[in-house]
Amino acid sequence: MQTILSATQLTALSKQAHRFGKRVGFVPTMGALHQGHLSLVRAARTQCDVVVVSIFVNPTQFGPNEDFTRYPRTLDADSAMLAAEKTDYLFFPSVEEIYPQGAATWVEVETLSGKLDGVSRPGHFRGVTTVVAKLFNIVQPDAAYFGQKDAAQAANIRKMVRDLKFDVEIVVCPIVREADWLAMSSRNVYLQGEQRKQALVLSRALQRVQELTAGGEKSSDKLIAAGKEVMAAEPAVKLDYFVIVNPETLEPVADVCQGVLVAVAAYVGITRLIDNVVLPTQ
Ligand code: PAJ
Repeated sequence: MQTILSATQLTALSKQAHRFGKRVGFVPTMGALHQGHLSLVRAARTQCDVVVVSIFVNPTQFGPNEDFTRYPRTLDADSAMLAAEKTDYLFFPSVEEIYPQGAATWVEVETLSGKLDGVSRPGHFRGVTTVVAKLFNIVQPDAAYFGQKDAAQAANIRKMVRDLKFDVEIVVCPIVREADWLAMSSRNVYLQGEQRKQALVLSRALQRVQELTAGGEKSSDKLIAAGKEVMAAEPAVKLDYFVIVNPETLEPVADVCQGVLVAVAAYVGITRLIDNVVLPTQ
């Protein structure tokens, strides 16, 4: 695996791969890698000839009071994991490489950026779509791999790709969970002592909704109420949202049908966690 710091150099390598008729797969990340990230790398490895992974803690997707400075940075461990997965290129740019002095152009999906996480994290999705657009232009991938864990992020990216006609296939891979069903996240390392157990309430609330829908319940209002009741039973966890929405438009749906997204976000202490399921899952 080769680590590349320069955007120009990475673009040249991607162009060269394309000249040889190779399919370039791309996995954008912010590092602090876990099995969720690695599942994306493995998907790219099976479907593509050249695999590029980026590690870039993107300042523009963090709010002023969020965890940009303390976000876990574990480059050595990450590099070892990526090399073991036979990654070809690790792109590890500096902030200046991605946002040169005076950069003033933003990419925002106006109909989606203010929904779900966009409500309590204004500017977050604008930061995500802007950096992903830049990374797509640098890496020029044939396919890019994202996790279902960040369902609203995937919706913003799919829409950006359609609207701006990026010639890249977006592949969304299933959520990878711990044995006790906590969705893997780089932020799970923040959870202290009891918080690790308290965090399980998110997946428990989603499972409750799944059970009720499997039993025939279709009313979103009732399902959301049931999910919120499970959340309320863990008072240490502060609910941000619990919604049932169309996974493309992120608009609420009144009655559930196949493919609707049940999504939850909550604070465990100061750590914000998200999770979701798509109905019905089995
Ligand atoms: P990051 O949080 O590092 O996640 C990188 C990718 O891994 C995302 O597509 C995310 O959905 C996926 N992922 C995270 N946890 C997962 C899990 N448990 N199972 C499956 N996939 C999982 O998402 C970002 O970085 C950034 O917003 C980024 C897209 C890199 C733009 O800065």
